Amino acid sequence: KTPHIVVIGSLNMDIVIEADRSPQLGETILGQNARFIPGGKGANQAVAAARLGARTTMIGAVGADSFGQDLLLALDNDKIHRDSVKIVEGSSTGVASIYITSGDNSIVVVPGANYKLLPEDIDKYDDIIQDADIVLLQLEIPLETVRHAVTKAKAMGKTIILNPAPAQALPEDLLRNVDYITPNRSELSLLTGMNTEGEALEAAMRNLTQLGSNVVTTLGEEGSAFLGEKSTLQKVSGYKVPVIDTTGAGDSFNAGLAYSLALGNSLEESVAFAAKVSALAVTRFGAQAGMPSLEEVTMFGNHTMGVE
Ligand code: RIB
Ligand code: NA
Repeated sequence: KTPHIVVIGSLNMDIVIEADRSPQLGETILGQNARFIPGGKGANQAVAAARLGARTTMIGAVGADSFGQDLLLALDNDKIHRDSVKIVEGSSTGVASIYITSGDNSIVVVPGANYKLLPEDIDKYDDIIQDADIVLLQLEIPLETVRHAVTKAKAMGKTIILNPAPAQALPEDLLRNVDYITPNRSELSLLTGMNTEGEALEAAMRNLTQLGSNVVTTLGEEGSAFLGEKSTLQKVSGYKVPVIDTTGAGDSFNAGLAYSLALGNSLEESVAFAAKVSALAVTRFGAQAGMPSLEEVTMFGNHTMGVE
């Protein structure tokens, strides 16, 4: 059966500017390139899940402007159900201004309409949430909306994945209600108030697990880590690939994890699958544009060995 993944989150137009270096304060420099590409952590995760073959529904908000229309069209292109993306009059679509300098990036996000997705909006979509195999959320919409949606999905007995990005402190009840939480190192550090470098990683992950959710930490080039049987740290190594653009790497990982868990695979199998999805995503330019298909992930898995 095709799994149904419901993403509750953000949609942004990414304005991606490539330059040799970042400008200093007060300085003007020339860049090479400016591109407008669909992004937003929520929509990126939805597109990645859909490309893997999940039935995917997006719950979110855009403004009544041309960026909003572009973002809806991008969802249509990947056959994502988006009747539950509301169009907010008098608010502008979320924008992320992304500077890429030699492969790395810095981002300023202006949430706009994403912050107009309110708890009462979620109540309109009970049927959708009821039908979900996995509910996937991030933190680019109001925290109260995330909290409300998670409480609701939990009451329905749903499996919930929370990608706690961008980093933000979270209330304990929210952490208790999610089944999987997927911070990167700095998000984990903020959530636990603990050091997460080197050997300290394991203790911080254990600390977060005490609230009841499974913790999967993404470690960039190093791969990822999760707590396995008897809560021992298990590391899944990354793949050596030619990196073009890491924007959306975390999003592709979360979508891969969600898709594989929705199919009933183990956490270990699902983390390994997610690692392949994100390895492919970073070899291509653009957040949504770079998300791989299931076929590509399967091919990649057959021909590539992980680095130990
Ligand atoms: O995770 C990557 C995304 O974060 C970008 O697409 C950008 O929109 C920001 O929200
Ligand atoms: Na990419």
